[in-house]
Amino acid sequence: MDIRILRPSDIPHVQQANLTNLPENYFCKYYLYHALSWPQLSYVAVDVSRPQKSPYDPPKIVGYVLAKMEEEPTDGVQHGHITSLSVMRTHRRLGLAEKMMRQSQRAMAETYDAQYVSLHVRVSNAAALGLYRDTLGFNVEKIEAKYYADGEDAYSMRMDLNNLRRPVLDDSASEGEAEDEGGPVGSAGKKGDGPAAGKDKLRKVKVGRALGVGNLVERVEGSKAA
Ligand SMILES: CC(C)(COP(=O)(O)OP(=O)(O)OC[C@H]1O[C@@H](n2cnc3c(N)ncnc32)[C@H](O)[C@@H]1OP(=O)(O)O)[C@@H](O)C(=O)NCCC(=O)NCCS
Repeated sequence: MDIRILRPSDIPHVQQANLTNLPENYFCKYYLYHALSWPQLSYVAVDVSRPQKSPYDPPKIVGYVLAKMEEEPTDGVQHGHITSLSVMRTHRRLGLAEKMMRQSQRAMAETYDAQYVSLHVRVSNAAALGLYRDTLGFNVEKIEAKYYADGEDAYSMRMDLNNLRRPVLDDSASEGEAEDEGGPVGSAGKKGDGPAAGKDKLRKVKVGRALGVGNLVERVEGSKAA
């Protein structure tokens, strides 16, 4: 079994898994929005036990977690959110959901400095509650009445990610102390860089669809070739 980042080409298979496992379904473009906006946060579990028969053989996706960063957090605190999680019946109780959740949570903290992760779960969903509360350590924040389309209530749950954020901050602090061996950044075109540097000024040119290719080329003022 392989747990890896969700790729746009996985989306039809993830959508199929979601339709099979959950009543909350989404348009293809919503999955794509996740994959393109927060590419580090969504994962798939792929059954790689059977070798690909051809290059066109699609991956056998047996689980996924679709996650995002909250775009306009009402509390003003940077945090992640689990949009959807499911594992095919054939592959449950193997620890796949737990691993995908942990991967996503780590990426939220490391990539986006998320302070916590939130989610909603049906009050009747014993398996998911067991995973979130007992295995991962989420807490119930409140009950949202009639949250789901069929009128069922949801637990609004969250988990603190500060324990994942601290080591990252420590790492960056120690890196800062190390000697920077790289050259200066953004020196291209400055005095002393290249034969013509320092003699001529660069000037900005207009860009746009209506302009010909010639107008899109940045020219050096005073150059005969212009
Ligand atoms: C909830 C779900 C994603 C769990 O996936 P999974 O890969 O089987 O979960 P894991 O194997 O990682 O389980 C980790 C832990 O979660 C808890 N858990 C998982 N399934 C459980 C169940 N049916 N009953 C009680 N606890 C359960 C257990 O503590 C388990 O650890 P253990 O196996 O060592 O006892 C899966 O059952 C599923 O897809 N359900 C349908 C879709 C769904 O409800 N998604 C969640 C929407 S909020």
